[in-house]
Amino acid sequence: MNVLERVRTAFAAATPEGADSQAFALAVRPSQDAKFGDYQANGCMGIAKAAGKNPREVAQDVANRVQLEPLAGVPEIAGAGFINVRLHEAWVAKTLGDLLNDDHLGIVSPESPQTVVVDYSSPNVAKPMHVGHIRSTAIGECLARVFDALGHKVIRDNHLGDWGSQFGMILWGWKNHRDEAAYAAGPVSELARLYRLAQSIIKPGEFLHDEKYEKVFELRKAGKVDDADKLFQKLKSDPSETWEQVEAIVAEGRRIANEARAETAKLHSGDGETRRLWEQFMPYCLKALEAIYDRLGVRFDHQLGESFYDPMLADVVKDLRVKGLAVESEGATVVFTESTKAPVLVQKRDGAFNYTTTDLATIKYRANEWRPDLLLYVVDHRQGDHFKGLFEVARKWGFDNVEMEHVAFGTVLGKDKKPYKTRDGDVVGLESLLDEAVAQARSVVDENSPDLDKQARANVAEIVGIGAIKYADLSQNRMSDYVFDTKKMTATNGNTGAYHQYAYARIQSIFRKGNVDIAALRASRPVITLATPVERALGVALLRLPECLAVVASELKPNLLTDYLFGLANTFSTFFDACPVLKAETEELRLSRLALADLTARTIRFGLNLLGIETADRM
Ligand code: ARG
Repeated sequence: MNVLERVRTAFAAATPEGADSQAFALAVRPSQDAKFGDYQANGCMGIAKAAGKNPREVAQDVANRVQLEPLAGVPEIAGAGFINVRLHEAWVAKTLGDLLNDDHLGIVSPESPQTVVVDYSSPNVAKPMHVGHIRSTAIGECLARVFDALGHKVIRDNHLGDWGSQFGMILWGWKNHRDEAAYAAGPVSELARLYRLAQSIIKPGEFLHDEKYEKVFELRKAGKVDDADKLFQKLKSDPSETWEQVEAIVAEGRRIANEARAETAKLHSGDGETRRLWEQFMPYCLKALEAIYDRLGVRFDHQLGESFYDPMLADVVKDLRVKGLAVESEGATVVFTESTKAPVLVQKRDGAFNYTTTDLATIKYRANEWRPDLLLYVVDHRQGDHFKGLFEVARKWGFDNVEMEHVAFGTVLGKDKKPYKTRDGDVVGLESLLDEAVAQARSVVDENSPDLDKQARANVAEIVGIGAIKYADLSQNRMSDYVFDTKKMTATNGNTGAYHQYAYARIQSIFRKGNVDIAALRASRPVITLATPVERALGVALLRLPECLAVVASELKPNLLTDYLFGLANTFSTFFDACPVLKAETEELRLSRLALADLTARTIRFGLNLLGIETADRM
């Protein structure tokens, strides 16, 4: 049990008569301000109010009965009936001493570990990965590492989109516009070119939805030809452009969209040549992804893409029908649900299965193969409705003993606060953004560490640059949008990855400067002294890693970990400014402070590792 859990358990046992002990325990929180102690029990006011009693009396009664030893003594009552718990310095010091030789920094494995499947990254292959993919990849990897560190069994699955409409576009491009020499030289860039080409032709066909002439189309549709023409004259950027030309482009877009759709259908129906091309393209696509995952330090246990489930889809629909869940509606097959506005479509009118059918097959497969307790889907918030419907159908279908959670996230924005794009409107490839952050980090490293040789600076720049992007992403409340700005991300002060990497390296440099043998220091188990408030604050903060991770896992929020680490690094900084370490007044104090510094460095390193961020001893 972590410290918070221990304090909560003590309070649960001292719950006032008639009140709910679980709720009472949950109202115990870490204190916001050290002057209110380390933990605060806030449940007495509500209980007193409900019972018509004096809250301070209720609190006093709890305080007299609660058994917090050896962690803390009799707590204090404050304000309207708060109970403040202050940990004994001696207990904190002793527990920190135990941590010196504990690789898990106080994290104790649960009695019954859970099996957690994390479905993350999951890009549609054949399109180059873009900035949006960093979110699912970084958040998913972090949650996987946190559950793993807490002692659960984690299965990481990259649910690749390897079977969808983007392949139809590539196949169409291949059949009509391929450049064999370019393909031989670089298959993935040629496929990406074909994809972009197809998209550039198809996109104007979708004018009616989002393009600049949408309003013109609407007016024409409404029969207001003159108004439409006036607006068109105003909007067009090329004076010689005629409306007939626009219409021709739109018609062409729709024609090609149909042809691409037909290619997708051929792939799904097992057409020999199409299938052979798909099999030829796939390894190249996977290899390109692999290069990015390597650079990001991400690895999966499985990469079972959509194509893997294709043979199971017909049975899914059949079974849903047999169980009376799926019914026919306007020629299509749907499941009626309470949680979504529209019924959930599982087979289209033309017989095609869809994204949802595949996800249902996936749930069945995962449930049968891996017997998970929890399924996490780290996917863009815009798929919220999809997952609501999916989970409801899956539960009705019988998968009601596995918890399913959509871990949603917001959008990455450019400096103009709009979804991140380059000037010519293309979404920027992820690879080039990684390069940009690393280059930015390189100039920071060159400036800060002229003493390192060139190769060392390049290595540090890579981990700072990649770490910067991950940290910036993970330190946001995941539902918020954020602005992608590599310059801010790589700053060495403020709540950034680099700030923490420097804090870590700084502690290592203390050890080097003092010629400290860390292994010997740990083994000697020096007595830790928490004589000053800053040492005490640092000591208490170091004990909180396990309880922080427990909350990260239950709320699925990596930013709670970055908040914790930022607080810890700042607390260390205050400590280091106030307390001489190598030049401490006595040898005993020197060893105690070195031990605190070591624990801080290890906690930062451990925490950064859970964020997928590396550290260097010298920066
Ligand atoms: N490939 C999908 C996309 O890019 C995300 C897949 C998420 N996972 C899932 N099981 N649906 O939108």
